[in-house]
Order: sequence, then C-alpha cells, then structure tokens
Amino acid sequence: MKFFIDTANLEEIREAASYGFLDGVTTNPSLMAREGISRQDAHIRAICELTPGPVSAEALAVESGAMIEEGRRLAALAPNVAVKLPSTLDGLKATGVLAGEGIKVNLTLVFSPLQALLAAKAGAAFVSPFVGRLDDVGQDGLSLVEEIMTIYGNYAFETEIIVASVRSPQHVLKAALIGADIATIPFKVIGQLAEHPLTDKGVAAFMADQAKAAGK
Ligand code: E4P
Repeated sequence: MKFFIDTANLEEIREAASYGFLDGVTTNPSLMAREGISRQDAHIRAICELTPGPVSAEALAVESGAMIEEGRRLAALAPNVAVKLPSTLDGLKATGVLAGEGIKVNLTLVFSPLQALLAAKAGAAFVSPFVGRLDDVGQDGLSLVEEIMTIYGNYAFETEIIVASVRSPQHVLKAALIGADIATIPFKVIGQLAEHPLTDKGVAAFMADQAKAAGK
C-alpha cells in the first residue's frame, strides 16, 4: 500500500518524507490557498523536489480544451507531476487526450463507482474517491472504494485507487484491510498512525526502570 500526503505545506512534506514511507503528494486549490499560494507553478516544482513520487497538481480550468492546455503546462513543470482533473465529462475528455500523450492524470472528486469506471476507461493513472466527504453526508465512503476495486478487478484496469478525503486512522486501516492501492493522508493523521498510549506508557516505564537500576 502506498502512502501519499495530502497537503501543500512544504514543511509537512519534508517531515513526512523523513519518516521513510512517503510515496507521493496530493494537492488541491484549497490546500494551496491554505498556504497562501495563488499561482501554483513554483510551489509545485518545490514539492516535486521533495519527493520522487507522483505529485498531483490540480488544473483550475473547467472546459476540456483549457484543461488539456493547463494539463500539458502542469506536466511540464517536473517529471513526477500528475495532473488532477475533476470527474466531469470535460475532465474525462481531457484525460483521454492527456493520457494518450503519456501524461498521468488523477481524476478527482469521485463519488460514485460509475465515475471511477469512466475514469479507468479514459486512461486515468489514478482515481480519487473522497471517503470523508461521503461519510460527512451519511454515506459509507469505504464501500465506494470496495465497489471500485471490484469493478477494476473484473476488467483488470490498471488505474490506481487513491483513497482521498481521509479524516482518521480508521479510514487508513479500513483502506488497508480492503487492499486499496494508495491512501492520501493529512499530516496530522500520519502522526496518529504511529501513536498508541500503551507505547508511550511502555517507553516511560522502561526509562523509569532503567533510571532506577542506574541509581538515579
Ligand atoms: C485529495 O486528493 C483531495 O483533494 C483531498 O483528500 C480532499 O480532502 P477533504 O475532503 O478533506 O478536503
């Protein structure tokens, strides 16, 4: 299972990369805005220097012709850029063209298995079902991922599934249990994956016992 970090914050990416298990980065316009970035090109280049893995950069265009142009421009920023496009008919049309040119596309804002089926047929390298946002409206986000996995398995599609809109370690655990390809995880949740109160308690007890034995 690959771990991407879902952020545009350079410090968070640098820190997560230092843990040794970072496989890529996803950004979106809201994450860019949170960093005060309005023109993303230089920032995407900086992120691409921090990881050899795929870095998703989202196009702002909404019409297919403009998406294709923007996608080509984003892909030229660094060899590891994946162009992120919304799962709309325009997005699918642009995906077909960009994928045909060897550009990796991440189709985002996926909320149904049929959107994911179309993404694979269009040649997307990645598809991003948003599990947290579905949970937020009372649906089961991880069930969507299971359905996509079944469909992709039925036809041996190679599109990788990025479990996105992750809110908690439980999302990552469930994604791993069902065998999802990738989870893109906020920095805070990456930290939570490694934590357990009994581990902290155990470390404190070992230190106290060692100090006692040393006569401190
Ligand atoms: C990742 O590709 C998405 O942009 C991101 O996971 C969205 O997460 P959110 O629902 O927390 O905004």
